[in-house]
Amino acid sequence: MNHGSSNTQANKLTGQEVAKHNNAEDCWVIIHGRAYDVTEFLPEHPGGPKIILKYAGKDGTEQYEPIHPPDTLDKYLDKSKHLGEVDMNTVEKEEKEEDPEEIERQERIQRMPILEQCYNLMDFEAVARRVMKKTAWAYYSSGADDEMTMRENHSAFHKIWFRPRILQDVENIDTSTTMLGSKVSIPFYVTATALGKLGNPEGEVVLTRGARKHNVIQMIPTLASCSFDEIVDAKEGDQVQWLQLYVNKNRDITKRIVEHAESRGCKGLFITVDAPQLGRREKDMRSKFSDVGSNVQDTGGDNVDRSQGAARAISSFIDPALSWKDIPWFKSITKMPIILKGVQRVEDVIRAVSVGCDGVVLSNHGGRQLDFARSGVEVLAEVMPELRRLGLQDKIEVYIDGGIRRATDIIKALCLGAKGVGIGRPFLFAMSAYGLPGVDRAMQLLKDEMEMNMRLIGCNTIDQLGPEFVDTRGLSMHSTGVPSDTLALDAYDPLAGPREKARL
Ligand SMILES: Cc1cc2nc3c(=O)[nH]c(=O)nc-3n(C[C@H](O)[C@H](O)[C@H](O)COP(=O)(O)O)c2cc1C
Repeated sequence: MNHGSSNTQANKLTGQEVAKHNNAEDCWVIIHGRAYDVTEFLPEHPGGPKIILKYAGKDGTEQYEPIHPPDTLDKYLDKSKHLGEVDMNTVEKEEKEEDPEEIERQERIQRMPILEQCYNLMDFEAVARRVMKKTAWAYYSSGADDEMTMRENHSAFHKIWFRPRILQDVENIDTSTTMLGSKVSIPFYVTATALGKLGNPEGEVVLTRGARKHNVIQMIPTLASCSFDEIVDAKEGDQVQWLQLYVNKNRDITKRIVEHAESRGCKGLFITVDAPQLGRREKDMRSKFSDVGSNVQDTGGDNVDRSQGAARAISSFIDPALSWKDIPWFKSITKMPIILKGVQRVEDVIRAVSVGCDGVVLSNHGGRQLDFARSGVEVLAEVMPELRRLGLQDKIEVYIDGGIRRATDIIKALCLGAKGVGIGRPFLFAMSAYGLPGVDRAMQLLKDEMEMNMRLIGCNTIDQLGPEFVDTRGLSMHSTGVPSDTLALDAYDPLAGPREKARL
């Protein structure tokens, strides 16, 4: 393509040339040193045109990077709109106003506790809250509506107590098991969480490396910030990965994704079934509102609600018409085991068995979808006795996720019949605060806790865990979110998380 006199250094475009195309009728943007004509794409952008228009005629890389896998432009923007390289020396650098919030955040990063001060998974969350960018924290930490389900996910585990046995010779402990036929060192997996680059510039491959080191499985999200292939390329040897699938309204796209995942060696297809529409996550919506909405001129003609946050912006393709009728089709296009992620009642587990699914994840999406959905572990306690009663317990593998923060939580789930558990936010927070060393430490802490607690409960191996080790009588009581016994809480000297270094 010839850009005439505007091309300088070896036919590169200049910043001045790009800057002329700075409005909704004629909109170019620079991403990673290349210019793109996105004028016609504006109305199709899942996040709405306004956020693109903010960067019309300018370099939008910083905003673009964490939300879009690197192959996005190749996939979704016609080649004729790829205008070529830009001489970045000629692009005017935006004078960034010093943002007082960002200055404070940088100060907090300087005073971050050292990694060794994190003794459990909650500690990573406490640190991440202080050092992550506000929008990233809002996206990761938020739950739906009043966040009742999100908090219940965690507190549900507090209602299950142990019935340990003694004098069992617990010198040797083996926490290894299998999940969908793959051997793992411990029965947790890294569940799918979108937009890894919001928390760490390298994105999901950091989790791949952590999972490899600890021989645990990683579930790759459809909406990862890294491309699918980057995440698969980052695995080593016989490392196992699964695919989480959001089903696209366009089934050809879905078919392509599934076939590609299978050809690249994925060992499980987890179809997310709890998100026909993305939940309202108000923290996320609020943070995006100030980021995107306030400093952009309203150009009109744009129906997208500006206050929807990162989550809604990236999810408009998900098919709300997905139904049980589609399951045979999935079975016809893949040999990977099919697992429904987001099942929330006994009846649907039984139906999943009857349509030939290989597994279910009892999950409410980390409390990010239907508020007042019950915790996965509570549903598990209801599901397993019913499966046993019907003789179906070996027909399907049952997983849970949501609120798992301690190895005792994992053990409780396993006692109740789960094959394994998924863990989401804790690894995101560990990665955001400390990168790969953080993820490594988080996984090691869980392993250490697991070995110790298996020993203390009196079990040497995973297959010894069973319902006789837990007292679940408290499970039916749901938390109200209102702290009880406030006098005692007031007097209680709370365990403290890691402390920041003193100011210099
Ligand atoms: C930031 C974030 C992004 C998520 N993205 C997805 C997703 O893209 N697809 C999906 O099926 N589940 C997604 N989930 C849900 C998780 O897979 C999982 O159900 C949940 O995080 C488990 O709860 P936990 O975070 O308390 O461990 C996401 C969760 C979080 C926190």
